[in-house]
Amino acid sequence: MASSIVLFGPPGAGKGTQAGNIVRLTGKPQISTGDMLRAALSAGTSLGLEAKGYMESGQLVPDSIIIGLIEERLTQPDASDGVLFDGFPRTIAQAEALSEIADVSVVIAIEVPDSRIVDRICGRYTCASCDAVYHDTFNPTTTQGTCDECGHTEMKRRADDNEETVRTRLSAYHSQTAPLADWYRQRDLFVAVDGDQDINTVSASISEVL
Ligand code: AP5
Ligand code: MG
Ligand code: ZN
Repeated sequence: MASSIVLFGPPGAGKGTQAGNIVRLTGKPQISTGDMLRAALSAGTSLGLEAKGYMESGQLVPDSIIIGLIEERLTQPDASDGVLFDGFPRTIAQAEALSEIADVSVVIAIEVPDSRIVDRICGRYTCASCDAVYHDTFNPTTTQGTCDECGHTEMKRRADDNEETVRTRLSAYHSQTAPLADWYRQRDLFVAVDGDQDINTVSASISEVL
């Protein structure tokens, strides 16, 4: 089995931001369960409808839905040499299911204290075409309103990027996702990087790990 990479960390840690650089370095495609669920939601599929309430309130979507989504995605040809998982797995049950279907070579955890998270998430916007991630103050587009990556001129904000939902997402992270760190440590796959630095410094730390 070709080996895959897991990007791990709390909401707003910078997983989506760092994914682009890792894709360039490794050639592995990014699989973001959050992006896949949002695409299903905007396409109005039954999966999207099922996930909607959980996502909007900041709770995790049930494992059975997520595992089914990943199993299907991994059958696509571009996944055959391993992938970069962004925001998956998020529970021990998801990690156990993943261990049956893919080989994980490293889990890169981007560590950011809770006190930074609300500012990061409430200032976030993304390109409506390519999902590139920006921030009002920390990482704005070079030309206001135009995506640096693809030139598209429509930006969007996520429905779950408000302070109240962020608090629910953080508590879901601490109770359901953070225990996975020890699960991966026991398997010698866990590497933490300091995510409380500027974006380029975090990228450099991740490149070193890779
Ligand atoms: P998902 O889309 O995965 O959201 P998340 O985990 O909450 O993470 P984010 O995407 O909010 O943060 P990020 O780490 O990608 O940060 P980013 O790079 O954007 O999941 C959404 C929902 O879907 C979940 O709540 C759940 O309901 C459901 N879901 C998804 N996967 C699931 C699963 N496996 N199981 C169950 N449910 C699932 O950066 C954030 C901001 O900070 C940006 O504006 C960025 O510009 C800025 N920034 C980034 N790095 C830095 C830096 N170093 N310094 C300053 N600013 C920075
Ligand atoms: Mg993300
Ligand atoms: Zn774009």
